[in-house]
Amino acid sequence: MHTVKAIYPGTFDPLTNGHLDLIARGAKIVDELVVAILRNSDKAPPLFSVEERQEMLTETTRDFDNVSVDVFNGLLVDFARQRGAKAVLRGIRAISDYEYEFQMAMMNRKLDPELETLFMMPAEKYTYVSSRLIKGVFQLGGDVSALVPPLVVERLRSKVPSKL
Ligand code: PNS
Repeated sequence: MHTVKAIYPGTFDPLTNGHLDLIARGAKIVDELVVAILRNSDKAPPLFSVEERQEMLTETTRDFDNVSVDVFNGLLVDFARQRGAKAVLRGIRAISDYEYEFQMAMMNRKLDPELETLFMMPAEKYTYVSSRLIKGVFQLGGDVSALVPPLVVERLRSKVPSKL
């Protein structure tokens, strides 16, 4: 039988409804989707620990029977090979995402020509949503409840001192 396993990698600090939308779209077209959180990111210090991010993702994706959540270190291509995945799933929200995504996809192709990158677009209503904006707006007292799952709002509330 021909089955397709894909990795959906990212920082997910924290996951947003845009990520969830992409997971739902991806889970419809591949047989197995592994959401993979990068442990050693070179981004600014994260708000949530990897374990907290993994727990939030696991909880919010529990209704998908072909989605699992894992953590990886090092090169994505090595993790994909180790997990027997043929594809990487990434979301493109706007043209501004394209250059970075194109560079990563080409570098991953150079490192492993067998691994394909699949790009999907999230629902229009989430095209401006990013984890960075969510954290920034929440920290300044803004309402992000339409843009992240309720569990994330709860965790943001317990992590960030209230502005009220
Ligand atoms: O959510 P993000 O921060 O845009 O995700 C970026 C991620 C995790 C997909 C990317 O940084 C990554 O794959 N890092 C692993 C290191 C790697 O494989 N680098 C070579 C490809 S450019």
